[in-house]
Amino acid sequence: MTNNVDRYGVMGYPVSHSRSPVIHRLFALQTSQNMQYELLQVPPEKLASAVAQFQRTGGKGLNVTVPHKGEVAMLADTLSDRARSAGAVNTLVFDKGAIFGDNTDGVGLMRDLQQNLGLALEGINILILGAGGATRGIVQPLLSAKPASLTIANRTLKRASALADHFSAYGPVTACRFDDDMDAGDFGLIINATSAGLHGETPPYPDQAVNDKTCCYDLSYGLNATPFSTWAAERGAARSVMGWGMLVEQAAESFSLWRGTRPDTAPVLKQLSINA
Ligand code: ATR
Repeated sequence: MTNNVDRYGVMGYPVSHSRSPVIHRLFALQTSQNMQYELLQVPPEKLASAVAQFQRTGGKGLNVTVPHKGEVAMLADTLSDRARSAGAVNTLVFDKGAIFGDNTDGVGLMRDLQQNLGLALEGINILILGAGGATRGIVQPLLSAKPASLTIANRTLKRASALADHFSAYGPVTACRFDDDMDAGDFGLIINATSAGLHGETPPYPDQAVNDKTCCYDLSYGLNATPFSTWAAERGAARSVMGWGMLVEQAAESFSLWRGTRPDTAPVLKQLSINA
């Protein structure tokens, strides 16, 4: 009886590559939830009407991905603190005619780093490469783990400085360029938050920032190694990890918001045959 099934989906443009439908189907099976999850290709100019139509026709919730994460915040009646801080929304909840906007990316990254990978963030030096929307969403969650320092390095210094200023009230955050002298940093964690790999580009990442104790984490992921994860492995990083775990963890957080039950992420990560 499909008309009794609660409807969810992911809106993006393009969106055909999204793994979210598979992940949410596995979560639904595991927790015996009667729901369906659709792939919704929506161009930017149709975003508002597509969200309204999904809501009008009884949709219960949406994930929102590139390029809509900023714009969709305007469509929510209320936003969570973490969505406001990230300046982006990746999850909508439709409830009694109102739209709640949240952002589960930050908590997804933190769960992957701390629980799945067992990384202790307190007191370490963290380097983020890139200063776009992806970086904005993770700075505050990372600072809340009390690292000794957080450095944002970007091709365009101005954007890194603007983010460092914006988040300076939450912890020790500074900005620099890729080619600035960073070897004093002794970084325990380097996160690639640039979109360079998506365009098949490999920027001059700072070789001197990696040592054999560094965990390198790429927010991007693929079936094959990303350019950043290859770069990190070649420089002798202790670990080089792609963002599959963050993808599954942010989905689990969205799923719990919608269904009130938290799925076990480990078997889903395993079933996707990832996290090698
Ligand atoms: P997103 O929302 O995915 O973060 P964005 O806001 O366009 O996307 O930001 C993309 C980030 O990747 C920026 O930090 C960008 O650097 P600039 O601010 O200098 O543009 C970075 N980036 C993209 N392509 C890059 C490349 N080829 N070399 C270095 N940095 C790159």
